[in-house]
Amino acid sequence: MPLDNRTASSQSLKLYRELADWYPLLTPVADYAEEAAFYRSLFEAHCRRPPRTLLDLGSGGGHNAAYLKATLACTLVDLEPAMLALSRRLNPECEHIQGDMRSIRLGRLFDCVFLHDAVSYMTSRTDLVRAIATAFEHTAPGGVAMFQPDFVSETFKSSTETGGSEDNCRALRYIEWRWIPDSRTDTYVTDMAYLLRHENGVVEVHHDRHYMGLFPRAVWLELIAAAGFEPLAVPFKHSSLSNTGHEIFLGLRPATNANK
Ligand SMILES: C[S@@+](CC[C@H](N)C(=O)[O-])C[C@H]1O[C@@H](n2cnc3c(N)ncnc32)[C@H](O)[C@@H]1O
Repeated sequence: MPLDNRTASSQSLKLYRELADWYPLLTPVADYAEEAAFYRSLFEAHCRRPPRTLLDLGSGGGHNAAYLKATLACTLVDLEPAMLALSRRLNPECEHIQGDMRSIRLGRLFDCVFLHDAVSYMTSRTDLVRAIATAFEHTAPGGVAMFQPDFVSETFKSSTETGGSEDNCRALRYIEWRWIPDSRTDTYVTDMAYLLRHENGVVEVHHDRHYMGLFPRAVWLELIAAAGFEPLAVPFKHSSLSNTGHEIFLGLRPATNANK
């Protein structure tokens, strides 16, 4: 795929389509318990109304929702039907809706709006503005929106990671290789290689290229404020990411109904 053809909807990512059934082996739901507890504590600390409802934009396999749903009625939105199917199996009690975080309008307000790692698929400032506008349109007065990009420009480092897991019959291993094309400052590439071992021992190999957005911290805060939120950056507290400078961005919607 040429570097210019890189919006989330045009990427045709195997991981979220034909390989979606392998997604829980790439990033097991049990690994989300600690971070979901942290997100819940932030929602509870910053929501100026009782936090009862949550809209997750780009909910993927629903791995955070699997924990957040204990105290929040969750509505989960994702672009990809295969990911929604996966999440429906894990979270049958949650509402699932197919949609694009840049354009969906449900005509409803939520106490908490969550744009987790999926917001990293906003690869242009225009897309990011649209996703933040969607968050604002769905945040109730006094509510809070949370944005959790994988990286901002200041924290990005080219790097390689490996990982994977197995269930009773299948196993997955991956290499994740992040780098910035010379011609870009607002995009990085994550090249993923997956080794998929089936129950009969046969191993398949796949390559998947993900284009991700990269924006300076100041741009995030500026765009969150421009949408009508009060912006806030808080350190991301997680055992695997201590002292990395990772932050979470919050948008606090003023408690009055007045828009900007
Ligand atoms: C890594 S997964 C999200 C995992 C999720 N945070 C969880 O808790 O399980 C990324 C998801 O973003 C979705 N996505 C990418 N671009 C999107 C868009 N414009 N609107 C909605 N979903 C999008 C993909 O379909 C994919 O399911």
